[in-house]
Amino acid sequence: MWRPTHHHPAITWLLLLLLSTPLIHAVNTDVPFPGYPAPWAVGVGSENAAADPAWAEAYAQAIEFVSNLTLIEKVNLTTGTGWEADRCIGNTGGVPRLGFRGFCLEDGPLGVRYTQNNSAFPPGINVAATFSRRLMRLRGEALGEEFGGKGIDIMLGPAAGPLGRVPQGGRDWEGFGPDPYLAGVAFGETIQGIQSRGVIACAKHYILNEQEHYRGSIDVRIDDRTMHELYLWPFADAVRAGVGSVMCSYNKINGTYACENEWTTNYLLKNELAFQGFVMSDWNAQHTTLGSALAGLDMAMPGDKGPDPYQSLWGGGLTEAVLRGDIPQWRLDDMVVRIMAAYFKVHTGDYADYRPDINFSAWTNETEGYLHPSSNHTRTVVNEFVDVQADGKHAELIREIGAKSVVLLKNNETTAVLPLSKPASIALIGDDAHDQPGGPNACVDRGCFQGTIAMGYGSGTADFPYLISPATALRRQAEADNTTFTTTPPPDGITTGNNWDLETAQKTAAGADVAIVFAAATAGEDIFSIDGNAGDRNNLTLWGNGDALIAAVAAVNPRTVVVLHTPGPVLIGDILHNPNVSAILWAGFPGQESGNSLVDVLYGRVNPQGRSPFTWADKSVDEYGAQLLFDAPDPKHPSQSFDEGVFIDYRWFQHSATGYYTVPFGFGLSYTSFRYSNFTVTLNEDVSGILDPAKGQTAPAPEYGDIDLDDDPEHRAQYVAPDDFERVLPFYVYSWLNNSETLVAGSPGNISDFPEAARDGSPQPVLPASGAQGGHPGLYDVLYTLTAYIENQGNVTGTEIPQVYVQLGGHENPWGVLRGFEEVELAPGETKEVTFNLTRRDVSNWNTTTQAWEFTTREKVVFVGSNVRDIHLNSSLPAPKGITYTYP
Ligand SMILES: *[C@@H]1O[C@H](CO)[C@@H](O)[C@H](O)[C@H]1NC(C)=O
Ligand SMILES: *[C@@H]1O[C@H](CO)[C@@H](O)[C@H](O)[C@H]1NC(C)=O
Ligand SMILES: *[C@@H]1O[C@H](CO)[C@@H](O)[C@H](O)[C@H]1NC(C)=O
Ligand SMILES: *[C@@H]1O[C@H](CO)[C@@H](O)[C@H](O)[C@H]1NC(C)=O
Ligand SMILES: *[C@@H]1O[C@H](CO)[C@@H](O)[C@H](O)[C@H]1NC(C)=O
Ligand SMILES: *[C@@H]1O[C@H](CO)[C@@H](O)[C@H](O)[C@H]1NC(C)=O
Ligand SMILES: *[C@@H]1O[C@H](CO)[C@@H](O)[C@H](O)[C@H]1NC(C)=O
Ligand SMILES: *[C@@H]1O[C@H](CO)[C@@H](O)[C@H](O)[C@H]1NC(C)=O
Ligand SMILES: *[C@@H]1O[C@H](CO)[C@@H](O)[C@H](O)[C@H]1NC(C)=O
Repeated sequence: MWRPTHHHPAITWLLLLLLSTPLIHAVNTDVPFPGYPAPWAVGVGSENAAADPAWAEAYAQAIEFVSNLTLIEKVNLTTGTGWEADRCIGNTGGVPRLGFRGFCLEDGPLGVRYTQNNSAFPPGINVAATFSRRLMRLRGEALGEEFGGKGIDIMLGPAAGPLGRVPQGGRDWEGFGPDPYLAGVAFGETIQGIQSRGVIACAKHYILNEQEHYRGSIDVRIDDRTMHELYLWPFADAVRAGVGSVMCSYNKINGTYACENEWTTNYLLKNELAFQGFVMSDWNAQHTTLGSALAGLDMAMPGDKGPDPYQSLWGGGLTEAVLRGDIPQWRLDDMVVRIMAAYFKVHTGDYADYRPDINFSAWTNETEGYLHPSSNHTRTVVNEFVDVQADGKHAELIREIGAKSVVLLKNNETTAVLPLSKPASIALIGDDAHDQPGGPNACVDRGCFQGTIAMGYGSGTADFPYLISPATALRRQAEADNTTFTTTPPPDGITTGNNWDLETAQKTAAGADVAIVFAAATAGEDIFSIDGNAGDRNNLTLWGNGDALIAAVAAVNPRTVVVLHTPGPVLIGDILHNPNVSAILWAGFPGQESGNSLVDVLYGRVNPQGRSPFTWADKSVDEYGAQLLFDAPDPKHPSQSFDEGVFIDYRWFQHSATGYYTVPFGFGLSYTSFRYSNFTVTLNEDVSGILDPAKGQTAPAPEYGDIDLDDDPEHRAQYVAPDDFERVLPFYVYSWLNNSETLVAGSPGNISDFPEAARDGSPQPVLPASGAQGGHPGLYDVLYTLTAYIENQGNVTGTEIPQVYVQLGGHENPWGVLRGFEEVELAPGETKEVTFNLTRRDVSNWNTTTQAWEFTTREKVVFVGSNVRDIHLNSSLPAPKGITYTYP
């Protein structure tokens, strides 16, 4: 592989010039959202790129590499070679002259999709439920090891879009739940974990792809404040964590497709958040050649499906756009240097020379296959079945996350069924407890509802290496304990349809010491529809007659334990209030160790620490306020306004007068109990409450190397494939021109449709809220330090998750927003001090007029509790220097 050995003096000089350009005071622009030009990396926010050694060094290497590339080689790195044109889900062209193969991109986000000898991890929603930064990071590291080991350069994950505006959202479970703070922490930890293993992470889907229905056409209308305080928030954490790539989504935002949207990509992501990596399109989410390039897209995926003669919007089409002068050289150079900088950023330290060959094919399970499947071209060994599971270490981690993400929603102290201890007999009921007869991967991309559910469906899946069902693990435990064990359906029976046989279920449950009943629901991507659910869930009840089954079992056994495998909340009022339901556990989608993780919790080997990463409603989906758009009045132009603003999930339940809910956000029981005391709040007197806006100007757009733009056919000839070049035929995207005489691209668009500013490479003002990765560096100043004591008052070791909620004040703000949490393990009788830092960002609102975060003059209050409704400690926040509270 290619690595620079030294920096060319001219490059170093150029870099120094860029980084040390004196800051010129800029006049505030009077255009509210100057979305053009696309910010060039190491331009806006360059102080920060310099301050972050990882990016600075990566940029030096990338600039040296890119400066040596020809126009065709540059375009090669920006454009996918086409669907199934190479072995990965996404592939770019390479630079054979320098021995640099094209990039391999693969789904994500819960494991390596479409391969073998990989792990099936719990998805985002489960790791969010652990509220454990440690487990978030470890999962990211393990994912990075598995992707890297297969020769993958870019893992298509993690996801914090959808955030989870609506609980039915088909892909909510792939992410970390609807609270932006929790999602942001999980996003950042996962990204750092993945990238520490030499693999580029991809923060997706950017942005507002909150539902599967109409995902490719819906126009989401959103106000600027909601964008900043809710949906953009976790992406700021991703950028701050140094994420190498971001994937723009399918939907439109305020009338423009996400991958063509100069507000979301140029203004917010690359300018305000000073993102230094590259933006790739979701698969076929790019719609134009010029619009996408000028709005900041850097990589087109999967690259094909464009007009003749190139069958690509980019590839030869982008080469032409550059030669025609529609796309300035600096914009192309910026695309490529961003891509290569992300590559060099993760290839440091032990991973500097780490780039295993691609050793699998996403398109076949056989050893032999085609290197270029869409063309049936070059048959050879394509699958080496490299085992990337780290000799069982990843399985152990999966089991731990599976157990620590279980949320104990109810545990009746009178019946005291849990934790189990050698019960005389157990009756196990429900299809969801059992193995799927055809094996855990019987349905492609898990697109069916059979057997125990341990992940959702769609592209966010991986094949299971194995799946330990609850029935297998519980039977094993029962045998060890001499517990009489009966199941419905019987172990070798079929696992679908039995949930309707309530009579047999009751016969099995009646008289058993403990009846454990399993119920589930699933959700996924709209590439499949299961029982009429096209990705999004049509309702919030349990599937497969689950509610009736639970009621029937509980009717005959007062020691009923309910286990739920669901992608998010179900309407839980009836189950929760059923006096015969002694315990309820939400296990989410636990991954390959499902049964083992569950048994660890049921038997008290792991004291539950899971906390619900979303709110559970009682009887109706209407209780959630914001609703999914199932049937657009104008299906050709579906549009939805996110009028609820920041009030989703618990923010809505706390806010609405009618809001009634049964299990609040952050809730989860333990086998022990905790006491909170001695709360202190310390204001950092050194930090002013008033944040000076970022100022200055960027350097002009840099160009790397010379591109010969002369339209003389003799000059143009260098951009046509050499005569002896053997193309992969018939389907492969190349960057060469069709001929050297004329430019021929099918429908590049018209450059006169764009403002002059779109191609302006002159110095640009730094936005007031920018200046560093993730926004203004002052946003991350610590304004308050909180301390509290937590004591374990019970007889067993347990982990409490204290949660900090901040009330920002006024009716436009929620009652409280999550701004801190810790994982505190305590032995019986033990007390520990916990500390939380509140940054300026944590206590600020977005001011749409000044386009900056501000500490408002509304009095603020901080709460510490076990969940959003169970507050143990509170205090007002003293006004920082420069601020006087004027409103209560
Ligand atoms: C790249 O570097 C090589 C060796 O220094 C040089 O011969 C070649 O012309 C360079 N190519 C470009 C496009 O700058
Ligand atoms: C572009 O990439 C393709 C696929 O890797 C490769 O065949 C081709 O030679 C590359 N073009 C150039 C000019 O390097
Ligand atoms: C997007 O639309 C909303 C609602 O129509 C509006 O408040 C907001 O200013 C628009 N944002 C941009 C960037 O145009
Ligand atoms: C590979 O095997 C898995 C697991 O059995 C299956 O789900 C998938 O469809 C197979 N893929 C191909 C391309 O045959
Ligand atoms: C590749 O082979 C498959 C199976 O024989 C066939 O269906 C397909 O049309 C072929 N594709 C091309 C591009 O030849
Ligand atoms: C189970 O029963 C067998 C035979 O009665 C006995 O030897 C064994 O110790 C028992 N095991 C437990 C864990 O009680
Ligand atoms: C909700 O959807 C599931 C899955 O399609 C279905 O089994 C169930 O009957 C539905 N519930 C209601 C109340 O319609
Ligand atoms: C707890 O169990 C007791 C005994 O079965 C029952 O009377 C009581 O109603 C149950 N409590 C709840 C909240 O279900
Ligand atoms: C909490 O504060 C009280 C009163 O100041 C003090 O007596 C007690 O020791 C403190 N508790 C801890 C755990 O420090």
